[in-house]
Amino acid sequence: MENFHAPWISFVLLALVPFLSKNPFVAFCHNTPNHETDQPRTYIIQLETPTASLDEEGLKIWYKSFLPESNDNSERLLHSYSEVFSGFAAKLTEEEVKNMAKKEGFLRAHPDRVLPLHTTHTADFLGLKVGQGLWQASGLGKGVIIGVLDSGITPNHPSFDDRGVPPPPPGKWKGSCNLKTGCNNKLIGAKSLVAGDTAKPPIDVYGHGTHTSSTAAGNFVRNASAFGLARGTAAGTAPHAHLAIYKVCNDDGCSESAVVAGFDAAVKDGVDVISMSLGGSPTRFDQDPVSIAAFRASVEKGVFVSCSAGNDGPFKSTLSSVAPWVLTVAATTMDRSLQATVELGDGRKINAESMDQPPNFPEGPVPLFITDTSYDYHNCYTVSEKVKGKVAVCQADDLICTGKAAIVKAAGGIGMIVVNLDEEGYTMVDRTCNFPTASVPFNDGNPIITYVNSTSNATATISFRGTVLGVTPAPAIAHFSSRGPARECYSIIKPDISGPGVNILAAWIDRRTANDTFVIQSGTSMAAPHLSGVAALVKSLHPDWSAAAIKSAIMTTSDDKDRQGRFIQDEQRGSASFYAMGAGHVNPSKAVDPGLVYDLDIDDYIAYICGKYGNAGAKAIVRGRSIKCETVKNLTEAQLNYPTITLTPRNINHTVSRTVTNVGPTNSSYKVKVNVPDTVFLTVEPQILNFTQVNERKSFTVSAKWTGRPVNSVEGKLRWISDKHVVRSPVVVTDRQI
Ligand SMILES: *[C@@H]1O[C@H](CO)[C@@H](O)[C@H](O)[C@H]1NC(C)=O
Ligand SMILES: *[C@@H]1O[C@H](CO)[C@@H](O)[C@H](O)[C@H]1NC(C)=O
Ligand SMILES: *[C@@H]1O[C@H](CO)[C@@H](O)[C@H](O)[C@H]1NC(C)=O
Ligand SMILES: *[C@@H]1O[C@H](CO)[C@@H](O)[C@H](O)[C@H]1NC(C)=O
Ligand SMILES: *[C@@H]1O[C@H](CO)[C@@H](O)[C@H](O)[C@H]1NC(C)=O
Ligand SMILES: *[C@@H]1O[C@H](CO)[C@@H](O)[C@H](O)[C@H]1NC(C)=O
Ligand SMILES: *[C@@H]1O[C@H](CO)[C@@H](O)[C@H](O)[C@H]1NC(C)=O
Ligand SMILES: *[C@@H]1O[C@H](CO)[C@@H](O)[C@H](O)[C@H]1NC(C)=O
Repeated sequence: MENFHAPWISFVLLALVPFLSKNPFVAFCHNTPNHETDQPRTYIIQLETPTASLDEEGLKIWYKSFLPESNDNSERLLHSYSEVFSGFAAKLTEEEVKNMAKKEGFLRAHPDRVLPLHTTHTADFLGLKVGQGLWQASGLGKGVIIGVLDSGITPNHPSFDDRGVPPPPPGKWKGSCNLKTGCNNKLIGAKSLVAGDTAKPPIDVYGHGTHTSSTAAGNFVRNASAFGLARGTAAGTAPHAHLAIYKVCNDDGCSESAVVAGFDAAVKDGVDVISMSLGGSPTRFDQDPVSIAAFRASVEKGVFVSCSAGNDGPFKSTLSSVAPWVLTVAATTMDRSLQATVELGDGRKINAESMDQPPNFPEGPVPLFITDTSYDYHNCYTVSEKVKGKVAVCQADDLICTGKAAIVKAAGGIGMIVVNLDEEGYTMVDRTCNFPTASVPFNDGNPIITYVNSTSNATATISFRGTVLGVTPAPAIAHFSSRGPARECYSIIKPDISGPGVNILAAWIDRRTANDTFVIQSGTSMAAPHLSGVAALVKSLHPDWSAAAIKSAIMTTSDDKDRQGRFIQDEQRGSASFYAMGAGHVNPSKAVDPGLVYDLDIDDYIAYICGKYGNAGAKAIVRGRSIKCETVKNLTEAQLNYPTITLTPRNINHTVSRTVTNVGPTNSSYKVKVNVPDTVFLTVEPQILNFTQVNERKSFTVSAKWTGRPVNSVEGKLRWISDKHVVRSPVVVTDRQI
């Protein structure tokens, strides 16, 4: 049952129901060859990096030489990659691929997969204030270009006005703009990479791309709200950064071949950050064209890549986009609630969340209704006429609005109390049903059900309270946010970080009226662009930092405590595991001044890739040079200089080493502090790191041994503390077998 649930939950929360309802399982049943008919299908063909340096035209001619001889040859070639991937995408039969594989230079044929797409108050919540602190210091992200790979853009939306945004730095931007209305200093580029639509303007007909783009870098828009709720000045995380739009999704979803083309174009055009709120189930990095493209973008070209973790939580090992060279972003709630109160006839008061707050709802007690089948007692798919004039108590599901609300409404009901599913716990996500609804946590549903069941004339008074701030606990991990451990990189804690992703107000397009508007959406899709914005702010202050250094800065300065000073909680109000929240909740103001960073360069990654996949894997992933793993000092995953630490002592004393780079004051002295449960001995050598130069590097080792019998897994932290900085790394010590 759990396995069945996971994909469905994601499709609702990914905010793109039209994409996903068509064939929700499409991303999970790829690679099925069609033996019967051998119809052409799309393949991403990976070739060896040509030894001669070829320009784009030269590459295209070479790529075409792999295609079967025929008169419609040119129409077969869907994408010709040049920057982040060696190869092309084309429609081919299996037979044709087999023939092609015999040609010299051929590496692999990846069948194209379809990947599902996975704010006024956010800036405030993240501590970003106009004219102060980080926004002031970074010029609101000035000069940084964020490339968004998504469903396109709504060009005339006020969020993409360029008021106050200077032109991009001279010579930096090399892209183009395919919009009838043209581009401006905010929206500097826009193109479609959807095969067959590349000549069309990348207009967003879904809203998802408009929402994520404005979350990353939307300009200030005063008085924004959704249905009068959550009113305030809307702004992205880096309001004066530039946006470059790459449409890679359409009605059929987001094909990998288009996503790789998006990376290719974005890197060529000169973006600094790539924001990607989509992804499928992970495969080996050396066989995943998107991971390969991301490697080249991030490690070889220095572009920061921020990806959504996926919406298949709270179940274990459900992450997407987990390569060590991308930032994997989990979603949290904020301290804002669109509140309602349910006061039961027996006097009990329950806090609820409501996106549908009607001004004319009856003020006094209204009768309650519950379906009276002995099982599935509040399923609400089979309500009787007794619901007329009553508020129905219904269990949440992903079709709550189009299904249950419509049924209750049609039968004459006047509203709904929606009870969360067990796995949703206390996470309250938006449900806009255009029908009065009040949603309550799973645990608060039981008293309501027991009460309604206990009397024939149950009533409740539902008061709608509008937007309430300061709600606790916040931030907390959202139930839908996908969880680690990541099977593809078990010894690296994934996700990396968390950021706001529940009830996020951002730009949208009303498809019926074509009006610009703002809507509230939830999903890790909404969290990733917040982190893209933060990366842009860090980059604008530290243009020379590598993607790994920026990632380390964001992770080691994040908060592991919530606004009340308690450890960040998950949807069940337990302490959130690192496998749910990553290192912690992003703290942008601290991220620009981390003190020390755990940096990684291409040689570190090559040593890791050689150790993991050998020569064939290195050849597939690394483009810029030819590698002989026999001559490389291989690194295990645990030894990769990542800002988090995973130790697997088994019966031995497991030791890993790390190297930190001083990016703080010239003369700094750091002392180590370790907190772990007493089931492990954790030792760090040396315990003091003294720096006398900027960019000086110092190494240390961390060793773990079980004190008694091994336990499944424990979490702790290692901090390097100076008088100005705290550099925190999550530590997991585990005995689980990989
Ligand atoms: C904000 O919008 C509302 C509704 O459109 C309007 O009544 C109100 O006057 C506006 N406030 C400001 C400050 O513009
Ligand atoms: C329910 O009805 C009974 C009898 O009509 C009445 O005594 C009782 O007060 C009612 N309870 C509520 C909660 O309205
Ligand atoms: C509702 O009441 C009936 C009969 O009193 C009982 O059998 C059933 O378990 C109750 N259901 C719930 C959910 O409390
Ligand atoms: C939406 O557009 C229609 C037609 O263009 C217009 O009449 C209406 O006032 C607009 N609504 C809002 C809320 O802006
Ligand atoms: C590194 O590992 C690969 C296999 O993953 C192996 O082929 C290679 O020889 C190793 N390199 C060294 C120096 O041991
Ligand atoms: C584990 O190894 C490290 C480094 O060799 C050493 O400093 C530490 O004392 C050892 N710990 C235990 C418990 O043996
Ligand atoms: C750092 O310390 C050295 C030696 O203690 C001293 O000479 C130097 O002036 C210091 N530099 C700064 C920037 O404080
Ligand atoms: C490191 O610096 C601190 C403070 O300046 C000093 O007390 C300590 O002796 C130094 N330790 C080492 C190992 O150099």
